[in-house]
Formats: sequence, C-alpha cells, structure tokens
Amino acid sequence: MKFLVLSRRSTIYSTRRLRDAARAEGHGCLVVDPLRCVLVLGEGRPSVRIAGEEITGIDAVIPRVGTYAVEYALAVVRQFEMTGVPALNGSAAIATAKNKWATMQLLMQRGIPVPPTATMRFGTHLKEVIRDLGGAPVVLKLPRGMQGAGVILSESAQGAESTMDTVWALGQDVMVQKFVSECRGMDLRVLVIGGEAVAAMRRTARDGEFRSNIHRGGAGRRAELT
Ligand SMILES: Nc1ncnc2c1ncn2[C@@H]1O[C@H](COP(=O)(O)OP(=O)(O)O)[C@@H](O)[C@H]1O
Ligand SMILES: [Mg+2]
Repeated sequence: MKFLVLSRRSTIYSTRRLRDAARAEGHGCLVVDPLRCVLVLGEGRPSVRIAGEEITGIDAVIPRVGTYAVEYALAVVRQFEMTGVPALNGSAAIATAKNKWATMQLLMQRGIPVPPTATMRFGTHLKEVIRDLGGAPVVLKLPRGMQGAGVILSESAQGAESTMDTVWALGQDVMVQKFVSECRGMDLRVLVIGGEAVAAMRRTARDGEFRSNIHRGGAGRRAELT
C-alpha cells in the first residue's frame, strides 16, 4: 500500500515512527506538509497538488494535524476524502477532537461519563454554576487548546470569573470544569482502536503542576488495563 502522512515536518517523532513502521511492513510512505498542498476544485475531479504535481496513487491518508492552521489541514484531508482516499482519522472526527466541548458532547451522547462541566458566554450566573459544579477550585479550559495549553486551575470563583472575563474579551469560548482532585496530577491515556482498548499510558505531572501532559514536563509509563 501507499500511505501519505500529512505532517508539518518529517522529523517529528510520531511522523518518523509512522513512516518507519509503514516501510518496515513493506509499504510506501510519503510525508507531505499539508500547508504546501494546493487544492483545486471546479473542472474535473478535485485534486491535491504538491510542487506543481498532482498527488495520485495514494491508498490511505494519515493526518497528523497539530494546532497550527487546523482549518487548512482539514480542508486537505477532506479533499482526499472527496477523491475516495480514506483518511485515518477522517476530517469530521479530527474536527470534533480539536474542540473539547464538541468532544464532551459526543462522549456523553455515547454514554461515556465526563466530569461536570459548563460553558457560557456571559458571567451573569457564574457563581451559581461554579457552586453546582461543586465549588472552587475549578479547571478552566479553552475548547481549542492542546498539550495542556489553555488549561488553567482556578482556586476561587472570583479568580475564575476574572480569567473567564479576559478570555471572553479576547473573543474566545471557555469552559469551566469540576477539579477532579482524585487525579493528583495523574491521568491514564487509553488508545482505543476499532472500539477496543489496546494500550494505555499513565502520565504523571511534574512537581507543582496539575497537568500531566508530557509537553508540560509530565512523565509517561506504560500501564496495564484492568
Ligand atoms: N477537571 C480536571 N481535574 C483535574 N485535572 C485535570 C482536569 N482537567 C484536566 N486536568 C489535567 O490537565 C491535563 C490537560 O487537560 P486536557 O483537558 O486533557 O487538555 P489537553 O487537551 O491540553 O491535554 C490533563 O491531562 C489532566 O492531567
Ligand atoms: Mg489531554
């Protein structure tokens, strides 16, 4: 098979691992920066070009969409989908995953429990909302953050209010979530493939930090699922 990995740089660890794994299995694997793709619609079938040449003969696309120019990267994934090339994951799934509120809505819809969380655009009833979530401390989250960026621990309702006011003034959405104290800076990342939990990693935050993201200095260890 011939895979196309959409990734900003071929030197990124996960991109290199995907390419090496594909080649080790005897597959072709091309790494292309989605922002260098030219998308064409109109006459004939939709096409994707790179360096003036149409990209053809791809069996599957593996998108590695980060935080930069998400909309454009998703347009590239959708363009491949339009030409019948499957993408893992698909553009609709990535768009949901890039938005924490949309993700939580979907999880709840599918019967997967989520921590008590609220979102709003005015602080008029924020104190009551925070009280209903169990009171401070609370965690504030920008729906579009990742790697722990935009995840803020707020020790008081007043602190939460001023932070949320600031975020709204910048024209952004923000969510307020119950602080899950049992975590104590730890979380479990479970990889689910085709509806089956296949591997897990326990992540532990560095000292003085509640976010266990590796990008925030956390450490990851293989975990056995029970
Ligand atoms: N409600 C919460 N209570 C306690 N810790 C939390 C809560 N939400 C997030 N965290 C910590 O912050 C980290 C980052 O939050 P997360 O929502 O996963 O954002 P990101 O998409 O940036 O990883 C989590 O891995 C966890 O360690
Ligand atoms: Mg996370």
